[in-house]
Amino acid sequence: TAQPLVLGIETSCDETGVGIVRGTRLLANEVASSMEEHVRFGGVIPEIAARAHLEAFTPTLRRALDTAGVQLSDVDAIAVTAGPGLAGALMVGLSAAKGLAMAANKPLYGINHLVAHVAVGLLSDGDRDAAVAALPPDTGALLVSGGHTEILRVGSLTDDVQLLGSTIDDAAGEAYDKTARLLGLGYPGGPAIDAAAAQGDGSAFRFPRGLTMPKFEGSAENPGKHRHNWSFSGLKTAVARAVEQFQDQGLPVPVADIAASFQEAVVDVLTSKAVRACREHGITTLLLGGGVAANRRLRQVLAERCEAAGIELIVPPIPLCTDNGAMVAALGAQLVAAGAAPSSLAVPADSSQP
Ligand code: KG4
Ligand code: ZN
Repeated sequence: TAQPLVLGIETSCDETGVGIVRGTRLLANEVASSMEEHVRFGGVIPEIAARAHLEAFTPTLRRALDTAGVQLSDVDAIAVTAGPGLAGALMVGLSAAKGLAMAANKPLYGINHLVAHVAVGLLSDGDRDAAVAALPPDTGALLVSGGHTEILRVGSLTDDVQLLGSTIDDAAGEAYDKTARLLGLGYPGGPAIDAAAAQGDGSAFRFPRGLTMPKFEGSAENPGKHRHNWSFSGLKTAVARAVEQFQDQGLPVPVADIAASFQEAVVDVLTSKAVRACREHGITTLLLGGGVAANRRLRQVLAERCEAAGIELIVPPIPLCTDNGAMVAALGAQLVAAGAAPSSLAVPADSSQP
């Protein structure tokens, strides 16, 4: 049987993404980012992001169709991120998708952005095999970006996804961005801290690992409420205090050492909790996704700890780890193949979709 040809649309944050897949084959993945417009504010401004989607959407769609060499009338379904994300940004993609679905008489699939981050591991293109041929039963996913920090257990992409743990305050990328601001390194902070940390000593400061005390973690047999959860707000405060101490004494702030020590704390707690959640839930394959997956130290330590725990680690190419339309199309194709019912054309934007 022919593999479904699916158009995927992603507008949950600052990336306008349109991707086209046939089954698990990637045909096009066009992304326009409004990040440059947010830089001077030090964070994504929702209304600016929504207006940028409105301007970028049609040209991005045009490029994706041209790259894939298909027409809208050829596609079997249209998939679009319905949540979670910025409400106004989601509404632009959803409105566009609904209009296309109605005009071309195609089924519409409202997609959960986080599950799409996992489905992208199935995609292969001309030069590259898929990260996984099929998702092994009980695949884990560690999703780390500016908006989310989550560990998932995925029994089935289409109907069995369980949240094992998440941040209770800042996302990991948000912690990078806020810490970079404290250190005067600019926005977005992830790449800046990654670079500064390479020149510093990660053991110069011992910054806190959030939610690792026994009262939060409990034991494997008797898990505490926050065994698999993260918290990064205490870390940010500890960095602020360290910076202040140098400033108060009129001493130069050791930016590289603080950046490296901050990164060491983030990477340590992300990887140790993710690997332990996998072990305790019988997960033997872990996929890494989100913008923070670009972090060199995170990739290195996660690879070491997965290997030591006998867990196979999958890291898709970085353009597929960050927000894009192909991941939405990939999950849409899985839903079509599984015979899942399409969404109503009245499907709402669900900014806090779990
Ligand atoms: O997935 P993404 O592009 O957008 C969403 O937030 O959904 O992730 C962006 C986040 C930002 O917080 C950025 O600082 C972080 O990913 N980031 C990094 C690195 N590159 C991007 N964090 C750590 N190290 C990096 N090399
Ligand atoms: Zn994302």
